[in-house]
Amino acid sequence: DGTAQANIGVVGMAVMGSNLARNLASREGNTVAIFNRSYEKTQTVLDAHPEAEFVPAKDYAEFAATLSKPRTAIIMVQAGKGTDAVITELTKVFEPGDIIVDGGNALFTDTIRREKAVRETGINFVGAGISGGEEGALKGPSIMPGGSAEAWETLGPILKSIAAVVDGEPCVTHVGTDGAGHFVKMIHNGIEYADMQLIAEAYDLIRRGTGKTPAEIADIFAEWNTGELESYLIEITAEVLRQVDASTGKPLVDVIVDQAGSKGTGVWTVQTSLDLGIPVSGIAEAVFARSLSSKPAQRAASSSLPGPSSEAFTPADPDAFIEGVRLALYASKVIAYSQGFDAIVAGAEEYNWDIKKGDIAKIWRGGCIIRARFLNRITDAYAENPGLVALVTAPFFVDVMAEAQTAWRNVVADAAKAGIPAPAFSSSLAYYDGLRADRLPAALVQGQRDFFGAHTYKRVDKDGTFHTLWSGDR
Ligand code: ATR
Repeated sequence: DGTAQANIGVVGMAVMGSNLARNLASREGNTVAIFNRSYEKTQTVLDAHPEAEFVPAKDYAEFAATLSKPRTAIIMVQAGKGTDAVITELTKVFEPGDIIVDGGNALFTDTIRREKAVRETGINFVGAGISGGEEGALKGPSIMPGGSAEAWETLGPILKSIAAVVDGEPCVTHVGTDGAGHFVKMIHNGIEYADMQLIAEAYDLIRRGTGKTPAEIADIFAEWNTGELESYLIEITAEVLRQVDASTGKPLVDVIVDQAGSKGTGVWTVQTSLDLGIPVSGIAEAVFARSLSSKPAQRAASSSLPGPSSEAFTPADPDAFIEGVRLALYASKVIAYSQGFDAIVAGAEEYNWDIKKGDIAKIWRGGCIIRARFLNRITDAYAENPGLVALVTAPFFVDVMAEAQTAWRNVVADAAKAGIPAPAFSSSLAYYDGLRADRLPAALVQGQRDFFGAHTYKRVDKDGTFHTLWSGDR
């Protein structure tokens, strides 16, 4: 068929879709078909990027006709209804063996549902998490595809050609079947929430603890970015803090309303983890911190609540304090990743995915928002011990905790004494100490449950299930 000239297509010409299409077109051997519901966006992209030599389509039938078989199309439209609408239309014009990829931020349970429905037509459906924002889509994102092994055979080489590359390895791997890719992308975003909150707490503690200006703190973050904390988020934090507002001359961070928004993937991570019984407390606190920030009426009504006197917190040695904050940040960050990987392990078990934890850390090293130097350490930890029950117990991270824990405790205590909220720092520390504890007061909770509800308990010294005839029993 002389018109079937494109080997890959993209549906949805908003920013993410057009950037991904341009990325695809820039790679040797690709001819890219493009389609958008309203043709104006397609025309705009065609006009702006003649070098891409896109093959435009005006409707779904024409789009299908321009694609060589097996047809492969990546959907980059508004998540939810938009995605469902495009899938419905594509399944009408595609044939068995063709591949539909959803590159949007879909909830993984939607992806499981869609994969099942599309599979019945003989068409392959792949939910692929794509991280890296607009720039990542254009220059090389981290890609987390799910779907069948058969689809991965065709799709793999294409995705490898457009993904970010670290140490010669493309940041993409077949994560697992059906919704595995979107599940892992969701956890990625959850870790991103925790990482951002931890960095924000570090900034707040340093600013209120030492009186340094945002520009001075930018220098501190820039320096941290040359060490073990090196990461995209630390790097951009320095740039955000250094930014001066053109109209007022103030640090831009002081002009921005302090109410954090969200698009919901952090909430999904926490909801899903609650269902799986996994304590992702660092991620949850990050989500809650955004919610709290966005309650202006409650905050205004609470502003005169009693707090500590201002002398409660003046670090004797500001430089030592800042180093303590750095260590607290590092330790808390390890906890956020450890909790995130726990959720991945639990999800894999629940949904029967064969997820290679070390490979996930590998594909997060480049392209995505949480890219960081220390991800190599996570890959190493799982390579050494694939059955690692908690990431934080890997030898490398045990050493990190040994180095950081005293400073971490001091920082959390200083924050509490000073009345500076550090929910992610302190909840991560509480989680760490909970894991470490020889005995937990959960024994007492079991006693309480047995008392009022005859829920029974187990004993440390013999097998079986026990109930006590409490004096409160009637
Ligand atoms: P952005 O936030 O970057 O604008 P988005 O809202 O996630 O992107 O997605 C917008 C894209 O989804 C657009 O390409 C839009 O098509 P139109 O340009 O025609 O509006 C597409 N989209 C949304 N709903 C759609 C639907 N039901 N069918 C097809 N495409 C749809």
